[in-house]
Amino acid sequence: MTTETNTRTRVLTGITTTGTPHLGNYVGAIRPTVQASRNSATQGFYFLADYHALIKCDEPARIQRSTLEIAASWIAAGLDPERVMFYRQSDIPEIPELTWFLTCVTGKGLLNRAHAYKASVDKNNAAGNDPDADVSAGLFMYPVLMGADILMFKAHKVPVGRDQIQHIEMARDMASSFNHLYGDHLVLPEAVIEESVSLLPGLDGRKMSKSYDNTIPLFSSSAQLKKLISGIVTDSRAPGEAKDTEGSALFQIYQAFASAEETATLAKAYAEGMGWGDAKQVLFERIDREIAPMRAQYEELINHPAQVDAILLKGAAKARELATPFIKELRHAVGLRSLASNGSTGQAASSKTARAAVASFKQYREEDGQFYFKLVGPQGRVLLQSLGFASPKDAGMAIGQLQQNEAKALADLGQQVALGEGVSAAEVIESLAELKAELAEKATSKG
Ligand code: TRP
Repeated sequence: MTTETNTRTRVLTGITTTGTPHLGNYVGAIRPTVQASRNSATQGFYFLADYHALIKCDEPARIQRSTLEIAASWIAAGLDPERVMFYRQSDIPEIPELTWFLTCVTGKGLLNRAHAYKASVDKNNAAGNDPDADVSAGLFMYPVLMGADILMFKAHKVPVGRDQIQHIEMARDMASSFNHLYGDHLVLPEAVIEESVSLLPGLDGRKMSKSYDNTIPLFSSSAQLKKLISGIVTDSRAPGEAKDTEGSALFQIYQAFASAEETATLAKAYAEGMGWGDAKQVLFERIDREIAPMRAQYEELINHPAQVDAILLKGAAKARELATPFIKELRHAVGLRSLASNGSTGQAASSKTARAAVASFKQYREEDGQFYFKLVGPQGRVLLQSLGFASPKDAGMAIGQLQQNEAKALADLGQQVALGEGVSAAEVIESLAELKAELAEKATSKG
C-alpha cells in the first residue's frame, strides 16, 4: 500500500464540521468527490476539519453533531473508507505539530494579507473599532493549520471553492520556505477548481447556503423533502401559462439531478404550461429517487455513532502510517533530533540515522510455558517487558498493537507490559514510532 500511495496523485480536501450537509453541498462537493475518489490513478484524502471548526464555532455539541452528520453523509453517498483515507483532523496529532513548524517559517505579513482575516480587519476599521477587535489568533492562523493539513500528506491536488485558492497559494509559500531552509521535504500543492459544478440555488433563489437559511438538508425524510420543495419560490403564473426555465430555481435544481433528456422534457413541459405544483412533484420525485437509496445507511450510521467513530479511527490509523514517519523526518530536519545524530539535514541521512538506531521486539518462551516479549533498544537496553501470554499469537497481537498504535496500545495493554528500568513511556513511544518509520521505509524500498 505504501508504494501505491507514493506513486499515485494524491488528492486531498477537508470539510469544516460546523453544519448539516445540504443539497448544495451534495451537488457541489460530495457527489463529485465521491465520483473522483473511485479513480484508481489517484489516492484520496478526505478529512473532517474539526480543528478548523473551533475557529468559527464554540458550541461543543454542534461540532460533535456536525462531525457525525458529515461523516455519515459522505459514507452514505458512497465514499468507501477502505479505498480512501477518511479521518478526523483532530485524530492526527502530527498536524498541530506541523502547524508549529510552518508557523515558524511563515511571515506574519503573509498572514496579514489573508482574505478572511483582512475582511474582519476592514469591517472593524469601517466601524471605527480596534482593527483586531474580536479577531482570534485562531482566525489569523487559519491558513497555517490548513497548510499543515495539506503538506502533512504531500497532497498534489486540492479541490476547493474559489474562496480557498489563496490558502493553497499560501501553503505553497510555506512549503517553499520550509524546503529552502531545511531541504526538499514538502510537496508544493495545487488548487483544483471544479468549473463545471454549478452553484445550486436555495429555496429563495439565492445560492443555497447556511448563511441565507435557504437550504434543503441532504438527508431529511421523504415527507420533509417534499414539504421543503413545495416552498421553493416560483413566479405567480397559473397552470396553463408557459413558464420560463431561465431564472427558475426549481428548474436549476432539477437540472443538477436529472439527465439531459429529463431536463429537456421538463423544459418542454414548462413551455406547455405545466403547473408549479406538478413541477414541484416532478422535482421531488427526481431528487428522492437519487437520495432514497442512501437514506437507510445514513439513518443507520446516525443511530450508531460508535460505528462512525470506529471508521474514522481506522482511517486515522491508516493516515498516521504516513504522518508519523514523516513528522519524524521533519523533526530531524529542523534539528529536533537525537543529540548523538550526525546533524545532516538530507532525507537520506535522516533515514540512515533512523536505521542505525531503531529498537526491536524479541519474543521468547519461559519455563512457565507462557509467551513473552520485550522491546529492546539499539544498545540492548530493555525498554518494555511483557508479562506472560497464553499463546504466541496473543503475544504477537500485542506487539502488532504496539507497532500500530503506540501510545494508545501502551495504555490499552495496561498491566500486561511494564516499562524497563529507568525508561519513560515517552521513550517507549518514540522508539515505537521510529520502528514504525523504519518498517514503512523498508516496505517502500522493497516496492
Ligand atoms: N478551509 C476549508 C473550507 O472552509 C476547509 C479545509 C480545512 C480544507 N483544511 C483544508 C480544504 C485542507 C482543503 C484542504 O472549505
